[in-house]
Amino acid sequence: MDNILEARGVTKRFHGVVAVNDVSFHLKRGEILGLIGPNGAGKTTLVSMVNGTLEPSGGDLVFEGRSMRGVPAYRRAHLGIGRTFQVMKPFPALSVLDNVLMGALFGANGGEHDIERAREQARECLEFVGLGARIAQRADALGGPERKRLELARALAMKPRLLLLDEVMAGLNNVEIEEVIEDIKKVRDHGISILVIEHVMKAIKSLSDRVFVLHHGEKIAEGTTAEVLRDPQVVEAYLGRRRQ
Ligand SMILES: Nc1ncnc2c1ncn2[C@@H]1O[C@H](COP(=O)(O)OP(=O)(O)OP(=O)(O)O)[C@@H](O)[C@H]1O
Ligand SMILES: [Mg+2]
Repeated sequence: MDNILEARGVTKRFHGVVAVNDVSFHLKRGEILGLIGPNGAGKTTLVSMVNGTLEPSGGDLVFEGRSMRGVPAYRRAHLGIGRTFQVMKPFPALSVLDNVLMGALFGANGGEHDIERAREQARECLEFVGLGARIAQRADALGGPERKRLELARALAMKPRLLLLDEVMAGLNNVEIEEVIEDIKKVRDHGISILVIEHVMKAIKSLSDRVFVLHHGEKIAEGTTAEVLRDPQVVEAYLGRRRQ
């Protein structure tokens, strides 16, 4: 299986802070790769460098064999990289449908230019995430868990080949978490490769083919989920701290 994404020694500095330090990893085509680590470990920063919201201070990200250095975020979306935002970013005054329409219009291969087809695509994605009944409402009328679903629908409407999910389950109850886990499995079954950041360990366990762990910006472990979760360094850095 070839790699859809490779990170080669990626570093991000914010003034004095090294948020991500010389991190390398790869994501195989069709794989779900989990990314875990304590708060402030650098997970969101890493994802932002993959989709182009942030430029690395050093190292390189290679998507489908092509360096992403200097490639702006909107171009990366056209190339097939979609993401959700941990801090949800809906257009509050637009309808739920129009929010997702933005994804369809500006997604892979330059987006869908036929507005009716784009709308249909947006509707399908909203049905898929269970927001089919809310399409006419303003985005700011949605509650937190529904906004998470909106993020997912918008990212899917971009028809990505690589989907970056940044804590799409935060704030959801157990039933909702199970639903989103099933949704993500279906997305993978459509051939989409996925990087999933989650604090919800149940989700990481049931979704990830492999996992890697960031701690203070550095990769401290990687392997199968079972291997990583019994790694003493990971237990101390992440699980141990969260149990206190
Ligand atoms: N734009 C920024 N400017 C300055 N520092 C930043 C910026 N973004 C992130 N940081 C810092 O970089 C570090 C990594 O943050 P990041 O948000 O990537 O962590 P995270 O692993 O996603 O955490 P969480 O689990 O809380 O979402 C933190 O110390 C954070 O304060
Ligand atoms: Mg984060």
